[in-house]
Amino acid sequence: MPSPAPTHLAGDALVDWLQHAWAHPAPDEAGTQIGARLTQQMRRAILERVVPPAHRLPSTRALARALRIARNTVVPVYEQLRAEGFVVAGQGSGTYVCRIAPDAPPAAAKATEPAEAPRAASPLAFSRRGRRYHSHPLHEFWTRQPFCPGQFDLALFPFRLWNRLQQRQLRRADPIQLEQGEPGGAPELREAIADHVRATRGVHCAPDQVIITDGTGESIDLVARLMCDPGDTVLLEDPGYWAATQVLSDHGLRLRPSPVDAHGLPPPVLRPGERAPRLAYLTPSNQFPTGGAMPLARRLEWLRFAARHGTLLLEDDYDSEYRYEGAPFPSLQGQDAAGRVIYLGTFSKTVYPGIRVAFLVVPQGLQRVFADASADFYRDGDQLVQQVLADFMREGHYAAHVRTLRREYALRREAMLRALAEALPDEFATRRLSVVSGARGVHLTLALPDEIDDRAVAREAIAHGVTAIPLSVYAMRVRWRGLVLSFAATPVARIAPLVDALAPLLRNALAR
Ligand SMILES: Cc1ncc(COP(=O)(O)O)c(C=O)c1O
Repeated sequence: MPSPAPTHLAGDALVDWLQHAWAHPAPDEAGTQIGARLTQQMRRAILERVVPPAHRLPSTRALARALRIARNTVVPVYEQLRAEGFVVAGQGSGTYVCRIAPDAPPAAAKATEPAEAPRAASPLAFSRRGRRYHSHPLHEFWTRQPFCPGQFDLALFPFRLWNRLQQRQLRRADPIQLEQGEPGGAPELREAIADHVRATRGVHCAPDQVIITDGTGESIDLVARLMCDPGDTVLLEDPGYWAATQVLSDHGLRLRPSPVDAHGLPPPVLRPGERAPRLAYLTPSNQFPTGGAMPLARRLEWLRFAARHGTLLLEDDYDSEYRYEGAPFPSLQGQDAAGRVIYLGTFSKTVYPGIRVAFLVVPQGLQRVFADASADFYRDGDQLVQQVLADFMREGHYAAHVRTLRREYALRREAMLRALAEALPDEFATRRLSVVSGARGVHLTLALPDEIDDRAVAREAIAHGVTAIPLSVYAMRVRWRGLVLSFAATPVARIAPLVDALAPLLRNALAR
């Protein structure tokens, strides 16, 4: 690029600025055409108030001469800026800068900022909700290392079979596979899910009460949108599932975290005149993350509470397929005669985490609105995947796959329990360390004494190649200290060596 030539316009701030910019193109300008680059630079000059509103631009001829480019490069640039509303043509002649952003800080203000001012990743500020999400302590501990929850052993997934079902669906080449689908999801899948949850979880439902979503977060979002108003009170398990808390609080609901015990969350005792919560989020079959199960008596208490006070119970049955001892408790929904329970299920823990198929079972009378709203807000998901999953379920493969997983996970759970008991016998004997989760689910929950900094232990563990999520990150008001260790993704033979890497850290923390 030629060096700036002195012209009769020298001294014009815009020309000086453009000449400088011209000689020092920004990285994102490299390789762009001259006209496009000039348009971009002039936009910046106007937005940064190098030229103030109402300022008359140099003529196209004068600017072309100053920048040593052809005038017919400059003319379309002015036209483009006029079309975009950056400049207007004057009544007689001349082109003038528009008043665009009265509150934009003048460019000069930038130079006066203290040099040590922290550099924001983006000049845009997060909302309060955004900050709440961004600052959640869980982010620090989420990894892809062994024992981190949310991971599964895909070597156990019947890829060939799944591919065959997928190919068969693709061969059908049914245009519906490429469509948005019916509100509520693929009818075949809704039917297969209804059959499955009726048989295995005692859920009462017809297929049209099943609404397919792309994850539990979306299911909860839908419930919050349709069933709650900002300011309504929501009762939450404490500690509890952080994503549910996040979604519900993002809807402006008043969160009321309430401590869980070994049997999950008890119904609240209302003070005279106190309004009952609009909604209670519950994981009765395997409280997340402490691993307690709610006995029948408490379930009936909840159902009576809901019927008396009009509270909606949101039952998240996220990993109910995994029970290793005795018969599973049937769902709360199946025990409800008053239509007060919305049941949530997911396939991310049984099929594969990326499948993004989850579902709600809504009470009779709500299904039409839920299906339509789901379609309007989020669309109906991947129809091909839904068809394949429907075949997988209807042909008995899903039940067989879950049986395989259940057998394997039972072994992994035992291996983890055994390895912990062997590595930390004194700590268990003195009860400074205990396993509080029951024989279900895909993680163990270890409780630690209150004074232990579980986050410090978890940080050390990550540095040693093992991820244990500190229990305290799931707690809101209560004080729970401990670690959550998932055994789902780690084959039996690898469990003991990994526990051996973690054990000295726990021993040291408990000895301090
Ligand atoms: C309590 C709870 N519910 C639901 C889920 C599953 O969520 P999704 O369906 O989005 O995979 C999880 C996953 O960790 C969970 O812990």
